Formats: sequence, structure tokens, C-alpha cells
Amino acid sequence: MTGPIDELTPRLAALVRSRRAGYALPRDFYTDPQIFECDVQRMLLRHWFCAGHASSIARPGDYLLAELANESVIIVRTAAHQVRALLNVCRHRGSRLCAEHAGHAPAGRFTCPYHAWSYDLEGRLLAARHMPEGFRREEMGLRSLPVRVVEGLIFTTFAEEPLDFSAAEAALAQSAGTHGWGRAKVAHRELYVINANWKLAIENYMECYHCQPAHPEYARRHVYARPAELNIELERAARQRGAALGIRVPDIDEYACAAGAGRESVSVFRSALHEGHASATADGRPLGRYMGSFSASDGNSTYFDIGPLSDFLAYPDHGLIYRFIPRAVDRTEMELLWLVDAEAVEGTDYDAEQLTWLWKTTSIEDKRIVEMNQAGIDSRFFVPGPYSTQESYADRFVTWYLAELGAG
Ligand code: FES
Ligand SMILES: [Fe+2]
Repeated sequence: MTGPIDELTPRLAALVRSRRAGYALPRDFYTDPQIFECDVQRMLLRHWFCAGHASSIARPGDYLLAELANESVIIVRTAAHQVRALLNVCRHRGSRLCAEHAGHAPAGRFTCPYHAWSYDLEGRLLAARHMPEGFRREEMGLRSLPVRVVEGLIFTTFAEEPLDFSAAEAALAQSAGTHGWGRAKVAHRELYVINANWKLAIENYMECYHCQPAHPEYARRHVYARPAELNIELERAARQRGAALGIRVPDIDEYACAAGAGRESVSVFRSALHEGHASATADGRPLGRYMGSFSASDGNSTYFDIGPLSDFLAYPDHGLIYRFIPRAVDRTEMELLWLVDAEAVEGTDYDAEQLTWLWKTTSIEDKRIVEMNQAGIDSRFFVPGPYSTQESYADRFVTWYLAELGAG
């Protein structure tokens, strides 16, 4: 009997089998361009990923680009105020239509910079000069991708038969919904270029074994930097504070269930802040405006993840969207978007430095440690070591990844 893994190239199949349970992946998974291509085709293009927040494209014609490896998608607000995802590839000879990460389509059309074919905001071809008789404009629209907008978060996928997104939608209603992300706005954006394989960036995001040594400022604020058994009382107290405010965000752990099951993966969990920290601001004090169901701080935070590349972190007064963007075998971008309430005014309700300081600090630290990790793994003498008990989510991620390579 042959399983999905046997259908992989024999070398890859041997590598998948050579991974010891509970250990990091063998070197080639982080260094081999062919395996990166396999990651893209068998895993990344099949899943949903977050393209940004709807507030960034408020007016018809506003767009942003969502990219993955060498793919590029235009996320645009249409004349009918819908959100569409259009492949950023001209139907003539394939030029990119848009180059900037965000912008506005003048006069409601995208005009190709090469030979000036122009498309409307729905992707329909409007005009093409000097085409021969029989040319059918209506057959030359931009490829359209599936889109879901949930609590202000825009998701898209390259999959022709998308994974079932209903469990993700329900989880987002409870997490992002409780935190009021449907009526939020992006207050700040940063893009970090990490010279490392995307899986090292994700593994690093998934575990907090590194938080005490690498992130002193994070560790001072988040109890999650310590082993779970030390935090039982603090976590219980934070939940009680939340319950007193009417906040109920149930934990969900279906992150690794999607392999072969046809569903998008999702996880939600809450974790407390240390005493004296109402928020993860620079001084620990809350911003001037709470979000969603919060009328005060419960000293807690909500982490949620959808699919392999999209992670989110919500506090009572602000939030963060983490977009991991694999570009090449040794290059990953990490886009961070800071959210505040749509009505919040900079200078009155929040100070940008207070808002962004912790996660700018932590992200610069993460970039450095992930790049150091890649440099070490690049050694031909690297031998994968065992995960600690504080790295169970990184272990879960790589186990899921291997299953997905087979399932793809
Ligand atoms: S490639 Fe776009 S008009 Fe020619
Ligand atoms: Fe980190």
C-alpha cells in the first residue's frame, strides 16, 4: 500500500521519515530551494492567509497587495464596497499591474504599465488597444481569488477548492469579534525582512522557550514567557477578571487538524499579563480607548492563529496582526499591523510610541535570533536537537507541516 508520502520524490520521503519525533527538522527543510517550492505548492498555496485589515481599503479603488513567494494579489475595495482579490498578473503578456504595497486605482481602473490594457475594480477587462477581430474582452478578466472578510480581517487563498473556513470564522467571531476588530483601524505598520526560512520564523513565533533569554521586555509583561505550571493562579485570576467584565473567549485547539480533513486550522488561547500591566504598552497603562466588549482591562491577552501564516494578538485596547510572508528558501517577511479602535485619535487616545514599543522591540530581537538560527542550521554539521516542554507548539507545527507535505 502506498501513502501520500511515498508519492513524494524518494529523497523528500526519506527526509520526512528521518525526522525524529520531538526533534527539530533535518537541515534540508530549511536550506533546500526544491523543498521550499514543495512547501509553496503542497502547503502554502492551499491554505487561507490574512491579507490585511479592511480599514486599509476604506474607499472604492483603495487596494493593497498580498504576496506569497513570487505570487502577488491585489486586494481591492470595489465600487459596490465589496472586497475582491485579483491576481496581479495582466491577461495580455503577464505584467504586474500594481507595484506598491498599497495605493488607489485612479478613476476606478487598473491600467497595465506595459501596453495599457485596463481593468475595472472587479477585474473585468475594459479596454485593450488594436486587438484583432474576434478578440473577446469578456474572456480576459483578471483571475479572481476567494475572499472572506471576518471581523475586519481579510483572508484569501490560491486554492481552487478552498479549505472549509467555517470553523475559522466561528473562532474569529469569538476572538477578534470580542476584541472589536470589526471596527478597528490600522494605526501603524512595520515590515521586517528576516533572512531565514519561513518555518524558522513560524517555529520561533510558536514557542516561548526563548522568551526569557531573548525578550526581557516581553517576559516582564507576559506570564507566557514562563512554563505553564508557574502561571496557573495568574491565568485563573485573569479569567475571573475577564468574566467579571463579561469577557468570554473559549480556547480552541484545532491548529493541526486540517491535514487531509479539508478544514482550515485554527487555535485560540488566552494568557495573562503580569500584575501592574493593564496592557502591553511601554508603561503598562491602557490606551485611552478600549476595543470591542472591553470597558476596562482584564489584564489578559488573546492569541489566535489561522492557517500556517496568519497570527494575531489582542489586548483590551489594541491588537496586532502578524503576517508571515515566505519569499524564498532563505527569506521571509514579517508584516506587523497595529490595530486600535476606529475612533481612536493619535495624540488624544493613544501615543504611537506607547502603542508600538513592545512589539517593535520584540520583533527586532526575533529577527536577530531567527537569523542566528538559520546561520547555525546552514552548517553542514548541524544535527537537529530535541524540543523542550515549552516548545510543544513548535513541535506541533513541524509535525503538522510534515503531514501537510504528504496530504498536498
Ligand atoms: S502586459 Fe499588460 S498590457 Fe501588455
Ligand atoms: Fe520571539
